[in-house]
Amino acid sequence: MTQVGVVGAGPAGLTLALLLHRQGIESTVWESRSREYVEQRVRAGVLEPNTVELFASLGVDERLRREGLVHDGIHLRRQGRTTKIPLAELTGRHLTVYGQQEVVKDLIGACLERGIRIRFETPVTDPGELECDFAAGCDGFHGVCRGAIPAGVRTEHEHVYPMAWLGILAHAAPTTDELIYAWHDNGFALYSMRSPSVSRLYLQVSPDTNIAEWPDERIWDELQIRLGTEGWRVGEGEIFEKGVTPMRSFVCEPMQHGRLLLTGDAAHIVPPTGAKGLNLAVNDVRLLAAALVAHYVQEDDSLLERYTSDALRRVWRAQEFSDSMTRLLHQLGEGTYEARLQLARLEYLERSDAGRRQLAENYVGLPVAEDF
Ligand code: FAD
Ligand code: DHB
Repeated sequence: MTQVGVVGAGPAGLTLALLLHRQGIESTVWESRSREYVEQRVRAGVLEPNTVELFASLGVDERLRREGLVHDGIHLRRQGRTTKIPLAELTGRHLTVYGQQEVVKDLIGACLERGIRIRFETPVTDPGELECDFAAGCDGFHGVCRGAIPAGVRTEHEHVYPMAWLGILAHAAPTTDELIYAWHDNGFALYSMRSPSVSRLYLQVSPDTNIAEWPDERIWDELQIRLGTEGWRVGEGEIFEKGVTPMRSFVCEPMQHGRLLLTGDAAHIVPPTGAKGLNLAVNDVRLLAAALVAHYVQEDDSLLERYTSDALRRVWRAQEFSDSMTRLLHQLGEGTYEARLQLARLEYLERSDAGRRQLAENYVGLPVAEDF
């Protein structure tokens, strides 16, 4: 018997367990995969200031402060033109680039050190069978918890995009200081990084892509075409990780049913263009932990009752932003009219401080205190 049964040892589940532990609320985390598997799984890399501040308040930011790369802007590129969105100048806040698997390693280390039980290689089949007061469904998009909300109660809002991202990690020194988001006739490309010697790069590909059709040489050629400019090239090196991720927008409403509460990808998915997925997961658990603390410590259930509506405000803001960044930068297969609109939008961002400011505010994320 435990107070809160947490399903899933991803960023959401682990952060929730640590937030609850800090307030003396006991939880057990169930994870279907092994510790090695979840610590190696390569995914996101951009942390909003809200996320970094929450990790700092939990005392799990020591390595993140040391190894995380602080970024004060991003670049948009199209047709040989590059525009800087000076995030720090426009918002007073900056981003930290730090791999999700490093976040997960740090969180697991902190949980185990603080005596939080994590049962690896123990899949949950029905959250209703867990012996606990509350079940937190932090089991990602393909987990079982969302399905435990009866279909008649649940509304699923969904959009599937006709494209995917091919992502690589390479032992290659980045030849850019900032992330570059590139619009190109051949499709979108993104230049990111993990350290001064490791680059993270993405290419828009079709959703039915077989990775075998993309030998390393073809990947580098296409990255040079989409990202390269006169006299400047993407730094190449040995590719040590390759994967294809489909793109989807999805929101499940409500995010709770009785004593079951969903967080993160279990409840919603955004296309990766805005780098919001991980940050939204952390925001959900911030709200959920506060609601559970109010229940146990103040015997007040009002935050629990409002959990779905509180969480969905930031979720829908991020949905709109992620969708608009996706539609701004990808070849959507919708013909020349849509492509010309994209170029008009990009030109507006090149010319308008107000346009850049709007993008910057969304990319960095609204401060917690000012919204919800
Ligand atoms: P997850 O990280 O998915 O964690 C869920 C955990 O639950 C997993 O460890 C899983 O093994 C476990 N689990 C599942 N079912 C069960 C069960 N029945 N019982 C017990 N445990 C279970 N976001 C970005 O911002 N940028 C990116 O580039 C990016 N790339 C991505 C690439 C991929 C392939 C995927 C899948 C996602 C990507 N995301 C990206 C999104 C981001 O990684 C997620 O938003 C983030 O991982 C959400 O965290 P979470 O804790 O909610 O879910
Ligand atoms: C990364 C991922 C994203 O989805 C994004 O928008 C920017 C960077 C990354 O993995 O570094």
